[in-house]
Amino acid sequence: MRVLITGGKGMLGTELGRVFLSSGEVWAAGRDELDITDAGSVHLAFDSFRPDVVIHSAAWTDVDGCEGDSRRAFLVNRDAAAHVAREAEGTGAYLVAISTDFVFDGEKRTQYIESDPTSPVSVYGLSKLEGEQSVLEECPRASIVRTAWVYGAAGKGDFVRAIRKAGAVAEGPLLVVDDQVGAPTWSSDLAAALRSLVESRGRGVYHVTNGGEVSRYELARRILDLSGLESVAVEPVSSTESNRPAKRPAYSVLGSERWGDLGLEPLRHWDLALKAFLAQEGDGHV
Ligand SMILES: NC(=O)c1ccc[n+]([C@@H]2O[C@H](COP(=O)([O-])OP(=O)(O)OC[C@H]3O[C@@H](n4cnc5c(N)ncnc54)[C@H](OP(=O)(O)O)[C@@H]3O)[C@@H](O)[C@H]2O)c1
Repeated sequence: MRVLITGGKGMLGTELGRVFLSSGEVWAAGRDELDITDAGSVHLAFDSFRPDVVIHSAAWTDVDGCEGDSRRAFLVNRDAAAHVAREAEGTGAYLVAISTDFVFDGEKRTQYIESDPTSPVSVYGLSKLEGEQSVLEECPRASIVRTAWVYGAAGKGDFVRAIRKAGAVAEGPLLVVDDQVGAPTWSSDLAAALRSLVESRGRGVYHVTNGGEVSRYELARRILDLSGLESVAVEPVSSTESNRPAKRPAYSVLGSERWGDLGLEPLRHWDLALKAFLAQEGDGHV
């Protein structure tokens, strides 16, 4: 099996590169090797590598950055996704495109399932939603995997790393929002789940995250406690007080009504995954 991973040097892309290594030949293409906004380069990449499977993981993931530059957000997250999907359709490759919990507005208080109506509250969320729609228009056989709150070994600005870094040098309490609830997801668990999806050739939208739910504030406390930073205080603040350019959904826990139909197990609880990740990282992730 020949596997092309777009955004292959990103946090999830790096993990996917590792996980698919045993499945055959893998090209985890960084932006310097394959800029997906260039339709000609995407065509050439498919022509030369001839992938059987494509995991489209590239995106402009700077949520606040997208809010200030919607042109770039739509160029990367929507239009470039369409280039990838068009080539997948044309060559018969099986495509999985990664999307986000930010396609929802967060007004619900129970898990969002695949058939729930979408209503993004940020430019990033809207650009990713339109990316999903472009992918399915260009390549109706594709699958879309919505995930959330991803962290992992290759993360640079992920929440787990940010909290550990801030905790290591904190002279006062860390201020963390307590009105955003989600499901933290380890890139390693997600990548393994994506390999199972590829093996079962699911199509359409799937929600895939670690299990359970937690607020950012509670999660920060847990990260510090598991990192030997129990003495660092955390104070809850509201999203309004934190004053970020882009609005985030207050509640974006994803549930799946479709994953089980593939005969696949749900991912483990977020707390087990976080413990496993931190045990593996030791002090290395700070
Ligand atoms: N992180 C999360 O919490 C989260 C949650 C839900 C969904 N997702 C989705 O998961 C996927 C993977 O995200 P991630 O967390 O791994 O983020 P990431 O580390 O930012 O990875 C995204 C990668 O895409 C690359 N990229 C950006 N523009 C590109 C272009 N024009 N051509 C080729 N590559 C380009 C980036 O390269 P540069 O760094 O060089 O720009 C980066 O390596 C994305 O689709 C994201 O929307 C992430």
